[in-house]
Amino acid sequence: MEASSASKWVIFCMFLNLGIQLIQCSVTYDRKALIINGQRRILFSGSIHYPRSTPEMWKGLIQKAKDGGLDVIDTYVFWNVHEPSPGNYDFEGRYDLVQFIKIVQKAGLYVNLRIGPFICAEWNFGGFPVWLKYVPGISFRTDNEPFKMAMQGFTQKIVQMMKNEKLFESQGGPIILSQIENEYGPESKAYGAAGYAYMTWAAKMAAELHTGVPWVMCKEDDAPDPVINTCNGFYCDYFSPNKPYKPTIWTEAWSGWFADFGGPVHQRPVEDLAFAIARFIQKGGSLVNYYMYHGGTNFGRTAGGPFITTSYDYDAPIDEYGLIRQPKYDHLKELHRAIKLCEQALVSADPTVNSLGSYEQAHVFSSKSGDCAAFLSNYHMDVTTRVTFNKLHYDLPPWSISILPDCKNVVFNTARVGLQTTRAQMLPTNVELLSWETFNEDISSVDKDSKFTVAGLLEQLNVTRDTSDYLWYMTSVEISPSELFLHGGQHPTLSVQSAGHALHVFINGHLSGSAFGTRETRRFTFTGNVNLKAGTNRISLLSIAVGLPNNGPHFETWNTGILGPVVLYGLAQGKRDLSWQKWSYQVGLKGEAMNLVSPSGISSVDWMGGSFVTHKKQPLTWYKAYFAAPEGDEPLALDMDSMGKGQVWINGQSIGRYWTANANGKCSGCNYSGTFRPTKCQVGCGQPTQRWYHVPRSWLKPTRNLLVVFEEIGGIASKISLVKRSVPGVHS
Ligand code: GAL
Repeated sequence: MEASSASKWVIFCMFLNLGIQLIQCSVTYDRKALIINGQRRILFSGSIHYPRSTPEMWKGLIQKAKDGGLDVIDTYVFWNVHEPSPGNYDFEGRYDLVQFIKIVQKAGLYVNLRIGPFICAEWNFGGFPVWLKYVPGISFRTDNEPFKMAMQGFTQKIVQMMKNEKLFESQGGPIILSQIENEYGPESKAYGAAGYAYMTWAAKMAAELHTGVPWVMCKEDDAPDPVINTCNGFYCDYFSPNKPYKPTIWTEAWSGWFADFGGPVHQRPVEDLAFAIARFIQKGGSLVNYYMYHGGTNFGRTAGGPFITTSYDYDAPIDEYGLIRQPKYDHLKELHRAIKLCEQALVSADPTVNSLGSYEQAHVFSSKSGDCAAFLSNYHMDVTTRVTFNKLHYDLPPWSISILPDCKNVVFNTARVGLQTTRAQMLPTNVELLSWETFNEDISSVDKDSKFTVAGLLEQLNVTRDTSDYLWYMTSVEISPSELFLHGGQHPTLSVQSAGHALHVFINGHLSGSAFGTRETRRFTFTGNVNLKAGTNRISLLSIAVGLPNNGPHFETWNTGILGPVVLYGLAQGKRDLSWQKWSYQVGLKGEAMNLVSPSGISSVDWMGGSFVTHKKQPLTWYKAYFAAPEGDEPLALDMDSMGKGQVWINGQSIGRYWTANANGKCSGCNYSGTFRPTKCQVGCGQPTQRWYHVPRSWLKPTRNLLVVFEEIGGIASKISLVKRSVPGVHS
């Protein structure tokens, strides 16, 4: 049976209302599999998140997924990009969900629509709009009326949108499955009765939307009928659904892992991934979704975490740039082909398991109609063994499964990878970045223009509502000459406690130091000597959010920004606590307010020209340059290695946050590496976690493309370059 055969089945399915139906379009399930239009199916699926690429890339990505042997494309729905403010919706461009699904449909593939609306996904605020936090009386993901009302409203809206476009399979469309909530199990346990009540409400609410296709809840052992509970993980062969009449589904088979600034880059060898998939199928699993099949890019400020990188490459079979990653892609393609050859046997028989040795087993699926498929496994991690099965000998490499679609001939072994690894390279483009100019975020004017002044320190999100990553906290201190003199020439020490995520300290307009949290420990304390003068000193603290948390119990209550205390030590009279004095606040940067990033706003300030400006490191600086699009069709990226930390835009579109300097920009250490056990390894230690930043081709015009960079710490802008990604022997 062909791997990607969605279209093949569609011809058997008609709407009832046409009156000439052969089989009603339907998706149901039993303990063996999903049943699509009357047929049990073994399905391979891959996550491709529509806002993490561009509409121009979608068709190619989906075609590659189809060619790789997938039947289903899986995506979350990203509430916060669709409803940026209550009741204002955006389904355009990268957010055109209907268009994305229609492209999948046209390719003859199915869709699993994971509505959530909580999605986790290393996405800002787990997909929730930040305004949701400010709905009176709200408490996220629990038995709370304001939350449930908002969640139901958005879920209904999406379902209705799909129905209007006839996108559910029951209407002849491609959507065969939808998800409500996301990995609620652990949360539910922590919330007790309220968690259970919310979870059962969510399941019922979803079921009552009558989509005509099943709902799943991943990592939720208590999912009530008819909702199917599913598994997420590196391995899922231990997993069984909570009722014997539900199919065994793996909604997230992690193909690699995400990266956070300061951490390593993770890789998952395809031998291990293929082994995990074959183990799941031989146990009776019938749907596997790769999370991710194409990870893509967290453009703009969509990355969550905090500290999730702009790249969401994930070591997926299709890389961030849309290029095929070998040998991962082909090896999985072969795996899919081999398993599809077994499909009839797999869906019609239960496996009998025979021991072939202490580490070796045979799983045999033998149907009444004569189909026979066998999976021969060797769980030993190091030793190849020879086993005898049906009187024939088979050599099984360590940690591997051989697939025999006729119970005789091996067509595939998970550990035997035919192809060489092909490493993608970043090559120069010869494109020159021209007409560099800079503009300095003048902090003294920030002081004067600041929006408001209050006594004490405010939580960051309450002030910014996430309209910007940046919030200025500004105050001043009077220091008498005797205080400084008495101290004997040593600078006093400033201590600033922050709830997250990054901080730059400016004293009288000069960068005095920086401090950062990490993804695991967002809180941190800046401690540094500060050069105070006699008289009035301006203390300006730039607090930066680096993506809002995307999971964790009641993450809506987690704080960001400088909550204090802020204390000066080492003055003549000892310490001075500044926490409760007057602080002025300014949301965002001047350049943001003036829309410097866009071709229309660019002329609102006086830029400074001259080559020296791009050769000198200085903090809080905007840079702009122009460039022509390079010829060819290879994917493009900016090499930001010479810079520190900030954000970058092209023709007004945000490429995302970059961070290549200091402790958080570079990976400081790897815990383990090398082998494909356990599950993933780490590379890139000592290097910037992310050096290259994807520039979608479709964002460029032939000439005069505007590059704008905002640098926080200091970098050499003249060394930024445009590179192209190429994989030897692979065309984009
Ligand atoms: C899962 C979650 C996904 C994603 C993944 C890690 O637990 O469901 O949304 O966050 O972890 O990439």
